Amino acid sequence: MTELPIITAAQLALRNGQDKPQVWVAYKGVIYDVSKSRLWKTGTHYEHWAGQDLTHELPDAPHTDEVFSKFEAIGKLRS
Ligand code: HEM
Repeated sequence: MTELPIITAAQLALRNGQDKPQVWVAYKGVIYDVSKSRLWKTGTHYEHWAGQDLTHELPDAPHTDEVFSKFEAIGKLRS
């Protein structure tokens, strides 16, 4: 199995849908590319912003972390 690349918080921060075209979100140490989601266009999702670790914001959501299942894990957040 190939290991996922380690991504820093600074690299993640640029993928906020504003500074670079990609939209990445970290959840429980894993970074997901949600660029294809129409619900994350421009990096915002119901007042939540991409480009950061949103683990602690998931309890605000009306859904579980099942929503990540259709997105590709592209890296691990450097702790
Ligand atoms: C007030 C907070 C939030 C609201 C109202 C909200 C609402 C929604 C709704 C309505 C959907 C589509 C239906 C569904 O899959 O249940 C969705 C999908 C999704 N949400 Fe949230 N959400 C919130 C917070 C969050 C947070 C904090 C995260 C990340 C930790 C997140 C990640 C996602 C993802 C990845 C999807 C899938 C997008 C897609 O399939 O294109 N959401 N959300």
